[in-house]
Amino acid sequence: MKLPEQIEAKRIILTGLNNPSFEIAKQIYAVVDKSRNRLREWLPWVDRTNSAEDEYTNFLVEWCKAHWEAEEGFAYLIISKETKQILGCVDIFNISQKNISGEIGYWLSDDAEGNGYMKEAVCALENESFNAGINRIVIKNDTKNLRSVHVTEQCGYVLEGVMRQDVWDEYHQRLRDTNIWAKLKSDKEKE
Ligand SMILES: CC(C)(COP(=O)(O)OP(=O)(O)OC[C@H]1O[C@@H](n2cnc3c(N)ncnc32)[C@H](O)[C@@H]1OP(=O)(O)O)[C@@H](O)C(=O)NCCC(=O)NCCS
Repeated sequence: MKLPEQIEAKRIILTGLNNPSFEIAKQIYAVVDKSRNRLREWLPWVDRTNSAEDEYTNFLVEWCKAHWEAEEGFAYLIISKETKQILGCVDIFNISQKNISGEIGYWLSDDAEGNGYMKEAVCALENESFNAGINRIVIKNDTKNLRSVHVTEQCGYVLEGVMRQDVWDEYHQRLRDTNIWAKLKSDKEKE
């Protein structure tokens, strides 16, 4: 399964991180670093990302490029059409060719939050994923991550259940409860 290198939506362009440069790593790191205090509450990788080199090696090369080549995950920068600034990231990962399923993850910078960009990004990425042959898309979030829960609700995902106390949450020092949301291709066709 392949996804396009660019996906266009109304106010944003999703730019594939299939072959990212160190220059891009520096730009992403600057955005992550500026939004670190907010992002680290929900994304454990933020505390492990402390330089542009970490961003480049751990995220862009070992994750984005490798998964794109293996067709196991497709990560995109969310770029504003108007300002050309990086607003955040959205990706589809854990792709199973056998089960024709995948999982979407996302984050936005401090400046980009509260403008509906993530709803637009998720909608654009799921469209392309269903077109490429995916049948089921999952989104998982902490039951207490209300902004993320709001995105999944707004995007029309169905809450299939809660995995209770399934992951140790280092930031909050507790076992977290995880929502499992999903959308099927047939759900999308009914929208
Ligand atoms: C989760 C996260 C991406 C949600 O971001 P967000 O800005 O709340 O989500 P959206 O971009 O869809 O924006 C939705 C808000 O924009 C508002 N909005 C403003 N202009 C809008 C427009 N033109 N269209 C749609 N919504 C608009 C909506 O009203 C909505 O806010 P409200 O309904 O709460 O009033 C963000 O909070 C984040 O990065 N969190 C940290 C990382 C994280 O938790 N990732 C997920 C891990 S599971």
